[in-house]
Amino acid sequence: MKLRESGMPEEAYWETLLDVPLILERLEINQQLRDVVELGCGYGTFTLPVAKRISGVLTTFDIEPEMVERTRQRAAQAGVSNVLYVVGDVFADGFGGEPASKDACLLFNILHCEQPVRLLAEAARVVRSSDFVHVLHWRFDPATPRGPSMNIRPRPELIVNWAKEAGLVSCPEGILDLPPWHYGIRFQRPGI
Ligand SMILES: C[S@@+](CC[C@H](N)C(=O)[O-])C[C@H]1O[C@@H](n2cnc3c(N)ncnc32)[C@H](O)[C@@H]1O
Repeated sequence: MKLRESGMPEEAYWETLLDVPLILERLEINQQLRDVVELGCGYGTFTLPVAKRISGVLTTFDIEPEMVERTRQRAAQAGVSNVLYVVGDVFADGFGGEPASKDACLLFNILHCEQPVRLLAEAARVVRSSDFVHVLHWRFDPATPRGPSMNIRPRPELIVNWAKEAGLVSCPEGILDLPPWHYGIRFQRPGI
C-alpha cells in the first residue's frame, strides 16, 4: 500500500526544501555505519549522499518504480555503486532479510503514515542491538512550504512515544532542529 500523502512535488523544488549535508551531519550518518536500509528513496535526495558517507551498502526501497529508476540513474551518473535498489512495499512486506542485520534504518518524511508503530517496529527488527533508526520529519508548523496535512502530521514527542512502543529508545541528544523545515530524532535498539 502506498503510504498516505507520500507523493512528491517536482524534484528540483523538493531539493530546495532540505539542507541535506546539515541533516546527515546532525543525524550522525557517517562512516561508522556500514549497512543501512532506507524506506522511500524518492528522487534519491538522501540515497546518494548517504551512500557516499557510509562504509557499507545502502539498500533502498520504494513502492514507485519510477522513483527507483530515477535514483538508480542519478547514482550511476554520480558513480555511486554501493546501493541496492528494491521496488517494494515496505508497509506490507517489511525490509526483508535477517533480523538484526543492519547498522541503521532511515525513515525520512514518512511517519505521518498509517500505523507508524508498525513501521517503527519493522525498523527495530532490522537493526542490530545498539544500532540506529533515524527519523526525519516536517516541523509541526502549518507555515512549512510543504509537508503532510496538519491533522496527520506528528509532533516529535508523539514519534518518541511511538518509538518507545516499538521497543526503541531515544538517543541522548533528543530532538534535533534541522532547519529550515525539519526535525530529526535518532533512536537505538537497546543492547542485550
Ligand atoms: C515523501 S517521499 C520521501 C522520499 C525521501 N525519503 C525523501 O525524504 O526525499 C516518500 C516516498 O516513499 C515512497 N513510499 C510510499 N509508500 C511506500 C511503501 N509502502 N513502501 C515503500 N515506499 C513507499 C513514495 O513512493 C515516496 O517516494
